[in-house]
Amino acid sequence: QHGCLAYVIAAVAALSVGDPFVREASCDDAEDGGEPSGHGDGETDGVPGEQSAARRRFWQAQARLAGSEPTSDVLKWLTVVGAVEYAGGSDTACSEHFVRPKAMGEIRKLRHQLTALMQTYCPGAGAVMTQHMAPPNKTQQAVIRQVVLAGFVDQVAVRGDIAGYHAPDDETATRRRGLHAVPYMTMWSNEPVFIHPDSVIYTTARSSGSMPQAVVFAELQHSTRMWAKVATVVSPRWLATIGQPLCSFGNPLPFPRPEYNSTRDEMTCHVEPRFGPRSWPLAMVKVRQRRTGTRWQITDVIG
Ligand SMILES: *[C@@H]1O[C@H](CO)[C@@H](O)[C@H](O)[C@H]1NC(C)=O
Ligand SMILES: *[C@@H]1O[C@H](CO)[C@@H](O)[C@H](O)[C@H]1NC(C)=O
Repeated sequence: QHGCLAYVIAAVAALSVGDPFVREASCDDAEDGGEPSGHGDGETDGVPGEQSAARRRFWQAQARLAGSEPTSDVLKWLTVVGAVEYAGGSDTACSEHFVRPKAMGEIRKLRHQLTALMQTYCPGAGAVMTQHMAPPNKTQQAVIRQVVLAGFVDQVAVRGDIAGYHAPDDETATRRRGLHAVPYMTMWSNEPVFIHPDSVIYTTARSSGSMPQAVVFAELQHSTRMWAKVATVVSPRWLATIGQPLCSFGNPLPFPRPEYNSTRDEMTCHVEPRFGPRSWPLAMVKVRQRRTGTRWQITDVIG
């Protein structure tokens, strides 16, 4: 779909290998809840000399790879994989992009293997591995984010205010300090999680002033808090379509009026889906229903 197969293969390879970036220059101060210093905008934390220059280069590279309106750490990984391979994949190319050569080598090997598997078992899909993987365009980015959601659909997190989470009083003060302190709820626990300050999601949140309503994450890390890592912004609408197996739909709403099609013996109507074990309410969607026995059952979500 939209020439996304090569990206999906690269994403699966990268997610299997894990974060390709070097750690040293990144946010050492994230753990105590502080903003990572010098993040993206070339500021330094006042450490003079070599170290702060390296830090600045690191954050500039991160900002470049994240793109102008970042929505996903996975997309950033795809961009760096494409950039490093385009530059020949050498150790120099790796260090210029602040990635570990070993991780890049493993990702390359996996991409080869997965591409070969696809060529063998799905020859019609047209899987090819090119050295020049251009960054995905907007359409492709949305498709890739939906594929990531499909892969991690049980690791969705919804912003605390939407999920009905109330922070205990003594925590509220410290947690109101910034965007990085916005709690999210996962599907399977009462404990809030926080999006790790390494995530590209902050770049967009800083300009919009708010954190996304829903994300999907690939990893949880326990330390001073529960950090959700490798995050991707998802549209709440996708939860009803891609996440349909995890939705309950309730009764058809009286308005807009259900429509019956006698030729097809089908009904289209609007419902209010609820997502996951905590029944997070989603916006109304249109669905198609068919009769099975005496009951009407939803066959698909139209949107
Ligand atoms: C992105 O590229 C795909 C494949 O080449 C194409 O089908 C799609 O229309 C492009 N979308 C945009 C917004 O350029
Ligand atoms: C019912 O479905 C058929 C087949 O898709 C379509 O041709 C027809 O226009 C529909 N009728 C109504 C009333 O929507």
